[in-house]
Amino acid sequence: MEPFKVFPLYDINIVRGNACRIYDDQGTEYLDLYGGHAVISVGHTHPYFVQKVTEQLNTLGFYSNSVINSLQWELAKKLGQQSGYEDYSLFLVNSGAEANENAIKLASFYNGRRKIVSISKAFHGRTDAAVRVTDNPKIVAPVNEAIPVEFIPLNDIEAMERVLAPKDVCAIIIEGIQGVGGVNIPSSEFLQAVREMCDKTKTVLILDEIQSGYGRSGKFFAHQYSGIRPDLISVAKGIANGIPMGGLLISPKFPAVFGQLGTTFGGNQLACAGAIAVLDIMKAEKLVDNADKIGSYLQQELSKMIGKYEINDVRGRGLMIGIEFNYPVKALREKLITEQHVFTGASGTNILRILPPLCLTKTDVDLFLQRFKSLFVEK
Ligand SMILES: Cc1ncc(COP(=O)(O)O)c(C=O)c1O
Repeated sequence: MEPFKVFPLYDINIVRGNACRIYDDQGTEYLDLYGGHAVISVGHTHPYFVQKVTEQLNTLGFYSNSVINSLQWELAKKLGQQSGYEDYSLFLVNSGAEANENAIKLASFYNGRRKIVSISKAFHGRTDAAVRVTDNPKIVAPVNEAIPVEFIPLNDIEAMERVLAPKDVCAIIIEGIQGVGGVNIPSSEFLQAVREMCDKTKTVLILDEIQSGYGRSGKFFAHQYSGIRPDLISVAKGIANGIPMGGLLISPKFPAVFGQLGTTFGGNQLACAGAIAVLDIMKAEKLVDNADKIGSYLQQELSKMIGKYEINDVRGRGLMIGIEFNYPVKALREKLITEQHVFTGASGTNILRILPPLCLTKTDVDLFLQRFKSLFVEK
């Protein structure tokens, strides 16, 4: 048997990691500005993270959600305190798609409606409702087409007011910052207008902070730049530094109904130990501030290149940055990996996406800038 081929692969076998560096089976060191797709938050093999997860594995790796799991309570308490959502409750799952799937289900249980409004270029995952509200028909299977959905352009207040006005929309789902769609930031005016319109029409506001959340933007959640409070917030990616985990932060207005939501693996002891260690490290090492400070420095240095090397735009917040070129970046991204030993991500065809671990240092940034610029120097 072989793995089912779902993505084209780089011919590199990554076998080891440390902070913002990864190593292949030949011993070659790479600078990791991708974090395995925004997943590595506190750095590869952080000693405290490894210690806590190892201790947990030696104590109890898993038991069912039908008994008390005090680690879930500890995680919820710390997440509430560190994110500013102490009055919300937490439902733990295993991935980003599953967090969004449950957000949409909970919204629909709550107001009894079916139609979902999403944003052009959105990506929310690959399960039924999550893929339906993803703006990519190529990954929506016929079986996913049952849920009624309407896409509106990002930051178009008029369009948003028009679709929500009939009061038949179950929920509107918006990424804190669009990732796959090209590092596009919702304006504060837009998010505030959405909040107001959701209140008027009893529409549930879901913020997908799976990629932009957990400190990446320089605030705990990217939507906190606009001062709004969503009804539901989905998280995943960096929450447990690579242990599969997702979560849904739920406003107190949603009643918990036994049996309505559930999961076998979600919130298991091992994942919780990893997620608690992540929050402890984020607090001790002030990683949200670091994302803000180092991200601003990187963005500022990259912005000096706009107009050069066919770079059109540099945008983002904290350590979620897009560099938009006039041409497809596939070859450039490959060159960065193979010649300069730097991993980055991409969005669409023309955008390089920078999603490093939140412990990135100024030395790492300077090394990246040097290697990045050297790609454009005539040899
Ligand atoms: C904004 C956003 N939502 C949802 C998802 C889906 O997460 P997962 O792949 O863990 O299901 C992703 C993954 O890239 C994402 O970026």
